[in-house]
Amino acid sequence: MNPVDSVLSLVRPEILALTPYSSARKEAVADGARPEPSRRVWLDANESPKTPAASLPSEASAKDGRLNLNRYPEPQPAELVALLAALYGVAPAQVLVTRGSDEGIDLLLRAFCRAGQDAILATPPTYGMYAVAAGIQGARLVTVPLVRERDFALDADAVLAAVRAEPAVKLVFLCSPNNPTGRLLERSAVLRIVRELAGRAVVVVDEAYVDFSGAPSLAAEITAHPNLVVLRTLSKAYGLAGARVGTTLAHPAVIGVLQKIIAPYPIPTPVLQAALAALTPDAQAAARESIRTLVAERTRLAAALAALPAVKKIWPSDANFLLVAVSDSARVMAAGRAAGVIWRDRTKDVPNTIRITVGTAAENNATLEVLSRV
Ligand SMILES: Cc1ncc(COP(=O)(O)O)c(C=O)c1O
Repeated sequence: MNPVDSVLSLVRPEILALTPYSSARKEAVADGARPEPSRRVWLDANESPKTPAASLPSEASAKDGRLNLNRYPEPQPAELVALLAALYGVAPAQVLVTRGSDEGIDLLLRAFCRAGQDAILATPPTYGMYAVAAGIQGARLVTVPLVRERDFALDADAVLAAVRAEPAVKLVFLCSPNNPTGRLLERSAVLRIVRELAGRAVVVVDEAYVDFSGAPSLAAEITAHPNLVVLRTLSKAYGLAGARVGTTLAHPAVIGVLQKIIAPYPIPTPVLQAALAALTPDAQAAARESIRTLVAERTRLAAALAALPAVKKIWPSDANFLLVAVSDSARVMAAGRAAGVIWRDRTKDVPNTIRITVGTAAENNATLEVLSRV
């Protein structure tokens, strides 16, 4: 079987056979109507002919200074897809824009896992949504813990052994840099898992925090490995968590499967405007500068935290947060709350740890000030 057919053989048969909903705008775009939207008479989608008087303002799109919210958006806005493809170094056909990368996780579960039959593998402690999305879909969760003694490194041998022992595993979720531990997973170990599971399982590498690592993305490997999927997001380094713009990067055949099950109009027009504004050359340069500042603050914060008696250990971080061991996480969290500084208690993942997001210099000073008093 060729590599593309072998990855498609992992998809739920009923999804492969499904005729997807064909929205008005999708058909119009397929017919080539998109390039001159204002020169057409749009009577295909039962929309209102007018945008509300109180509609959101727009400098870019509408003649009268208002966003055309009366119109359904393009299902996958071509301009945004092209910008994201360039940002992530892939072809537009390898891109699916979603409502946050959380939607990418959900779509993958629904496309590959049959309820009550299939399973996913995750490597705790890790991002909780893999298990939740599996629970929603009725997929079983197989776990292979990261190796705590080696700063939560990936155990590739154990992952491969677990998948071989569990034919039900269709998706392997690897988070790199991992949340909440903060470290990049070793690239060669991830690629070995991808190679050895070709035709057997899809490996999903969640790179929500990779912009803070200085390491190259695995997106460039997608062309060579149809069973590799990479998740990216504008929520972290690009500051757009409130807009919900995630990207699933995969072989066009896999993107085609996910296109069948995604909601007809996932990217609202105001979200599109926010994303386009965040991806202009100037905005991208500003984002890169913010990343540099944040990484310098991460180093400063880690060094200053290490000197505090309340802090027992700080794990090395390639992300925009630090996992910190303290003697009593509940007490530390209470002190933070009392001072109006909110961290995240990760005790359920790693006993007596808190996860501290790296903020502005002033916010990081607030963290240091509170923790110096505990
Ligand atoms: C590892 C990881 N993946 C994905 C997400 C979700 O990101 P998004 O805002 O793109 O849905 C998060 C959010 O915290 C995360 O930590």
